[in-house]
Amino acid sequence: MSDKKSANAMWGGRFSAGPDAIMEAINASIGYDQKMARQDIEGSRAHAAMLAARGIINDSDATAIREGLLTVLSEIEAGNFAFSTALEDIHMNVEARLTEIVGPAAGRLHTARSRNDQVATDFKLWVRGQMDAAIEGLSALMAAFVAQAEAGADMVMPGFTHLQVAQPVTWGHHMMAYVEMFARDRSRFIDARKRMNESPLGAAALAGTSFPIDRDMTAQALGFDRPSANSLDAVSDRDFALEFLTSCSICATHISRIAEELVIWSSAQFRFVTISDRFSTGSSIMPQKKNPDAAELLRSKAGRITGSLVALLTIMKGLPLAYSKDMQEDKEQVFDAADSLMLSLAALTGMVADMRPNPEPLRLAAASGFSTATDLADWLVRALNMPFRDAHHVTGALVKMAEDQGCDLHQLSLEQMQSVEAQITDAVYEVLGVENSVASRVSYGGTAPAQVRAQIKRWKEALA
Ligand code: ARG
Repeated sequence: MSDKKSANAMWGGRFSAGPDAIMEAINASIGYDQKMARQDIEGSRAHAAMLAARGIINDSDATAIREGLLTVLSEIEAGNFAFSTALEDIHMNVEARLTEIVGPAAGRLHTARSRNDQVATDFKLWVRGQMDAAIEGLSALMAAFVAQAEAGADMVMPGFTHLQVAQPVTWGHHMMAYVEMFARDRSRFIDARKRMNESPLGAAALAGTSFPIDRDMTAQALGFDRPSANSLDAVSDRDFALEFLTSCSICATHISRIAEELVIWSSAQFRFVTISDRFSTGSSIMPQKKNPDAAELLRSKAGRITGSLVALLTIMKGLPLAYSKDMQEDKEQVFDAADSLMLSLAALTGMVADMRPNPEPLRLAAASGFSTATDLADWLVRALNMPFRDAHHVTGALVKMAEDQGCDLHQLSLEQMQSVEAQITDAVYEVLGVENSVASRVSYGGTAPAQVRAQIKRWKEALA
């Protein structure tokens, strides 16, 4: 017989030679799936309790197994566990050590179970925990944006389309746009968590088992809503990982968009925000530099996380039912994406909480680029009852005049304006200021401070 520290002890009955070293290297997942040790032990303890409750194993064996598993867990958590590549994965590493601790009773744990339903269960528990962490991290991030919005609810800044100044908006409005985006991200994790919360345990290898198991009991013990209804699907489903990665990718894309804005806004050309020293770095050669490295890394994480999604989609796309070993490659993608997302959420939350908007450059930029031209056109419609298309044309002519003279719209004299449209009165100047412009945008969801404050209030209550 082979050494008991080798996988052959688990499945080697029909083998006369051990695996080639390269076979062992390509086959082993213990290097990364040890991250699921806690979930593996939790699943096994629930399984053992169920086997005893159904009279499939006796109570004293179940007790020995359940207590032995806690010893294994404490060894792993204390860093005293010698993981073995020859034992392939976390499931067999744990079982081999359990055998050393409790003796032959350990051999009864794998009754009515396969590593296929075991790994699906462990991985689901792990992913579910990360969904909860993402939901929590997103709530904290949203609160940081709401606080920024509240502090700058009246602060005027340029709103852009095509990265060209379009119309004045408020800092509060811009911050609250991200609250909406991250709220949708949070709801994606919440939805996915509900959909995935079915227990694969008891599906066994693929076909179920002839033992009189109680799948409701293990499902309940592990916090699942119900057992999954088809054993083939249960062992071959990785939708939960794909939905997690999809939700992570969209969220990382949003993180990348604010990160890009922070990179632009913190530049000397914009000076819209000051990023705190805590989230900046210096240059080793240029002493004057303060670089937004954290924001740049946040921007890059979106590529990495979306890469994980594409990798797993591609791994899964050609797989026949039920389990195939390809699926072992699901974990590194998900682990890496989860680590990247949690770190990104924490870093962005810190940056947003610390950053300071700079009111003067924001206001100056808001007033530039004829940003109140739409207000002027709207005024012509309202005050002179002009059709909007005509008003658009008159405004265009006034913008051209201002541009030719190198001044802003509000710097044109009334006579100059009247040379384009005789009916214009000096009431027009009231809509040309940026503060007037934003205050007038009172439509639901618009940039008027009153509207933004209503949204801030709604979100503060929702996040409390
Ligand atoms: N380490 C494997 C995985 O991550 C566990 C399942 C192995 N199942 C099997 N039939 N070889 O997918």
